Amino acid sequence: MCGIVGYIGTQTAVSILLGGLERLEYRGYDSAGIATIDEGILRCVRAKGKLYNLREKLEHDVNPARIGIGHTRWATHGKPEEHNAHPHRDNDGSVAVVQNGIVENYQSLREELIAKGHIFRSETDTEVIPHLISEYLPEEGDDSDGLLNAVTKAVNRLEGAFALAIIGVDYPDELIVVRQNAPIIIGFGQGEFFCASDVTALIPHTHAILYLENGEIARLTPLGAEIYDFKGKRLRKTPKILDWSHSTVEKQGYRHFMLKEIHEQPDVVRLCLDTYLQLGWNSENGKNVNPIKLNLPETFYENLEYVQILACGTSWHASLIGKYLIEQLAGIPTLVQYASEFRYAPSPILPNTITIGVTQSGETADTLAALETEKYRRVGLEDKYRARILGITNRPESTLANMVDEIINTQAGIEVGVAATKSFTAQLIGFYLLALDLAYRRRGLSLQRLEELIEGLKALPGQIETLLEGQAKSIEELTHEFNDTQDFIFVGRGINFPIALEGALKLKEISYIHAEGYPAGELKHGPIALLDAKVPVIAIAMPGKVYDKVLSNAQEAKARDARLLGVVVDNDRAAAEVFDNLLYVPQVDEILSPILSVIPLQLLSYHIAAKRGLDVDQPRNLAKSVTVE
Ligand code: M6R
Repeated sequence: MCGIVGYIGTQTAVSILLGGLERLEYRGYDSAGIATIDEGILRCVRAKGKLYNLREKLEHDVNPARIGIGHTRWATHGKPEEHNAHPHRDNDGSVAVVQNGIVENYQSLREELIAKGHIFRSETDTEVIPHLISEYLPEEGDDSDGLLNAVTKAVNRLEGAFALAIIGVDYPDELIVVRQNAPIIIGFGQGEFFCASDVTALIPHTHAILYLENGEIARLTPLGAEIYDFKGKRLRKTPKILDWSHSTVEKQGYRHFMLKEIHEQPDVVRLCLDTYLQLGWNSENGKNVNPIKLNLPETFYENLEYVQILACGTSWHASLIGKYLIEQLAGIPTLVQYASEFRYAPSPILPNTITIGVTQSGETADTLAALETEKYRRVGLEDKYRARILGITNRPESTLANMVDEIINTQAGIEVGVAATKSFTAQLIGFYLLALDLAYRRRGLSLQRLEELIEGLKALPGQIETLLEGQAKSIEELTHEFNDTQDFIFVGRGINFPIALEGALKLKEISYIHAEGYPAGELKHGPIALLDAKVPVIAIAMPGKVYDKVLSNAQEAKARDARLLGVVVDNDRAAAEVFDNLLYVPQVDEILSPILSVIPLQLLSYHIAAKRGLDVDQPRNLAKSVTVE
């Protein structure tokens, strides 16, 4: 949730910290702060609100420090006020700490420390950490391992999930970094080291990255990086070289990241298909060749009976479509559960099951915890119950990717806008490929149908381009008509029901307009009572099995004076008779249609929010990676 950056080296720390925080601001933006050490003084500057408030405070401040830590906050314990902003310090201000996570036993630690004379200045859980560290520091700062030892003792007393960066005034050449169930990475530069909660902060400085694992502590000095476990044992670790490009975290002329990411969808879909489609599978030589190459081990498919999917938010919507595809194309019963619910009420253990965790960030605490639960409850059971865990993500370096057996990398790269767009379509492509792979293996589809669907998938990038070129302007113009609208209803059926949910979520997240998504057939069972001339209804009406039903459900809404908008295919004459406004997508097979039908809804939400002057990329109360449960 929160963003952490740390630096030690030969450059001016403040500008590196501020630059890093700017690139991490999507993780939380309630308040921000930095702490640096120079000439024996630990200085801490914090500000409520967005990062520019902190920048303003630091504007006329010449600070040549070469070491520092920074933080951008998404509030959990304590309101977003300056006194709750990180870094937090101990009594005499000699240790500074930034945290991402939650210290669950902070109340008892706080009471213990207060009894020893510590004075607390915030309501946060984090503040116990510097106080606790100071308890374990040697009286004189002359023990060269003093800070490392004190941090090691302190973190052994913390319960919960946390990532930390710590500096101490008596240790001006040390930056200590800790990971326990919350992500943090180390960046290796030339005579300099960085830490950050996400690689996006470090891309401009280095591509040599070490992912700390749970229970690890790094001591970074100008001379090197040492990694220890929580018992103090030194570990051997080697950084990886990442191939992210700098441009992935730049807006490249777009007004917002979200708009840029909507426009990246054709390339993302293309890349994902290129990665996993087997060329020439349907040629003479390719007879009997699986068209999909996901590179999953054969043991994954052995006696497969069920699929179970765990995810949150937009990734959960993608999973509902995944369920539809796996059941309808491959005939395998599939459960989809909210990861945040599963941990505390897991469904009974099923045999011969692939469990899939779907997450764009690869760091969502609820999803990771649900997968852990699933993994550990199967340990020691007979072979048919063994865990087979698959991740679907665009972040192959994430915690998810490291904890699951296999991943499908959806190739969407880093997504910065808080509202998921390209990561969603990429997850859908991941599910199409998996469903077709399973269908092929089970002979669930004729080769002709398989070929049709694969050709249909290959046509999608071009169709998205056509849609973006042809529709973007008219959708932007249409938004003028919703200046005062306060409620929207989205409806869809079959494979497009989850798109109704996703359309509603996008609108809520960035425009703060109340919106609900329903299966169109459910409207008459209750929600229809909400309708009147002030509540527009958006129906997704793609040609296919449920098309006529959706149109008649839309008519029912129209009869209650609702203004009707339809997401329909080009040249749909019948739809033109029913809907007041039409959002067109190119002609497409119903089963592939969600990839196209979601795009007008992304654009509509974007333009409504942008027109209202809202902060599209950093909507209130939200964060891009939700790393608390
Ligand atoms: O990183 P994840 O895909 O696991 O995130 C799950 C949700 O937090 C996320 O999809 C959220 O709903 C988005 N802001 C949707 O736009």
